[in-house]
Amino acid sequence: MSAAADRARLAAAVATLRAWLREPLERGLIAGSGLSGLAEGLEAPRRLDFAAIPGWPLSTVEGHAGTLIAGRLGGRSVLVCAGRAHLYEGYDAFEASFNVRVMAALGLRSLVVTNAAGALHPDYGPGDLMLIEDHIYLPGLAGLHALRGPNDADIGPRFPVMAGAYDPALRARAGAAGREIGLRMHEGVYAMVAGPSFESPAEARFLRAIGADAVGMSTVPEVVVARHAGIQVLGISLITNRVQMANPSVASEEADLHAEVNAVGQQAAPRLAELLTRVLAA
Ligand code: HPA
Repeated sequence: MSAAADRARLAAAVATLRAWLREPLERGLIAGSGLSGLAEGLEAPRRLDFAAIPGWPLSTVEGHAGTLIAGRLGGRSVLVCAGRAHLYEGYDAFEASFNVRVMAALGLRSLVVTNAAGALHPDYGPGDLMLIEDHIYLPGLAGLHALRGPNDADIGPRFPVMAGAYDPALRARAGAAGREIGLRMHEGVYAMVAGPSFESPAEARFLRAIGADAVGMSTVPEVVVARHAGIQVLGISLITNRVQMANPSVASEEADLHAEVNAVGQQAAPRLAELLTRVLAA
């Protein structure tokens, strides 16, 4: 789509949400695969389906609800995006970051992004959390960058810096809160791939070799757009599976990794919700 069409699409969604929201946004939260339950702790929740927002890309994946939930958490106004648009669904990088573009236009200053991710680091296991300390944006490096195209200098610079993108103070606060409630937490590098195939063993070894600790199919388009707009970011990966690094001697049975990802997500959602309540309320 043209840049003008993108701008018009964004403006329509922003106008709808401005009319719907009842108070200024203080915190945004994007809930990843199987993590829609994160919104359950919100006080006075109000829901709006993505389908009711003009221009908003709809979720086509099981485990992604496709709803915005506005409410309060620890006295702060919070907007939760339950569901997101992924490149593998056929969305482009603009659409995969549409949620954050809208929240930025609504004045958001602080955002928590969550996702489900596969472990590349040998010490990580299903159910662990990884605070994202840095990312490797493979689709972005290959040209599918969310900020490709004309730059709106009113929002941010043409060449935004990504060092320190994941706010060190927020990360420290999340780490301390996680330890208080006894969660297994790590800090590491998240590699984004486009999907939808899970990594082959050779791709997994490649990702590990270039410095990734976990891999997933989302989040980074949202983070680069948030940082471009000067929004503070906390990124949390829920490790749902270990990524296979060696090829078996016989072709393996079709594993239902997607079901596993959602199941671990649902199990871990209450613990992650408790962590987020503490982080968002601060
Ligand atoms: N690879 C890519 N994305 C993922 C994975 C994985 O193993 N697990 C959850 N999201």
